[in-house]
Amino acid sequence: MRFDVLTIFPELLDSPLKEGIIRRALQAGQVRIEAHDVRDYALDRHAMTDDRPFGGGEGMVMKPEPLAAAVRAVQAKAPEKGRVVLLSPQGRPYTQAKAEELAGCPRLLLVCGRYEGVDERFAAHYVEEEISIGDYILTGGELAALVLIDSIVRLLPGVLGCADSAEYDTFSRGGLKFPQYTRPRVFEGEEAPEVLLSGDHAAIAKWRLIAAVERTLAKRPDLVAGMRFGAAEIKILEGQGLIARLREAGWDGGRK
Ligand SMILES: C[S@@+](CC[C@H](N)C(=O)[O-])C[C@H]1O[C@@H](n2cnc3c(N)ncnc32)[C@H](O)[C@@H]1O
Repeated sequence: MRFDVLTIFPELLDSPLKEGIIRRALQAGQVRIEAHDVRDYALDRHAMTDDRPFGGGEGMVMKPEPLAAAVRAVQAKAPEKGRVVLLSPQGRPYTQAKAEELAGCPRLLLVCGRYEGVDERFAAHYVEEEISIGDYILTGGELAALVLIDSIVRLLPGVLGCADSAEYDTFSRGGLKFPQYTRPRVFEGEEAPEVLLSGDHAAIAKWRLIAAVERTLAKRPDLVAGMRFGAAEIKILEGQGLIARLREAGWDGGRK
């Protein structure tokens, strides 16, 4: 998969891409990430990419022509056309489901705003989708672009070490993941759950399913409505009285 990030601060992208899973994916050629400086596409000799807002008011607005020229030039750098995404607090809220959808795209162009945002005509003519990473305001779209890249790259086939490590992640089945424990067996007087040390895989899977459901009911009841279970899981949950609790919390009976 290929990412092209359009920004006036390309160096901001460097360091988070140099570590861990993303670095490995880059080295293995599973992903290609290029940052492009929008200033290179400015029309005037001062490389101006922003100007005062029409109608007056605070701050500066990113001019449409450099952004448009950057999108056109960057699209031409690879044979497949990239889906153009503008990072914006006014976009649709980003979710794991959106990450999974975008992981299916061969190429994304991520446009990072700065200042008061981008001229509306650029968004209308060039942007296919606006995405927000949450209801708060960042100084620019670069951190939001990195959030998208990080969450998408780990979903690409072969990127995570263990094939199924994304399968049981929080959100992937609608709710939260079960709690995790590691050595030591006893920490500050508290023992790790005995069943996890039993080697009994069926018992462990059952414990994890129940713990994940109880945790979602307690911590994120707003997620319950979208949870999905297989027939065998429903039987286990019924035995624990959890199906009734899930329904009370708004579960729609969704099956895997
Ligand atoms: C200071 S913000 C502009 C906010 C704008 N004045 C408003 O009130 O909607 C500058 C840029 O940061 C990025 N940004 C800020 N918050 C964001 C968020 N929650 N999600 C995605 N991008 C964000 C966008 O690219 C935006 O154009």
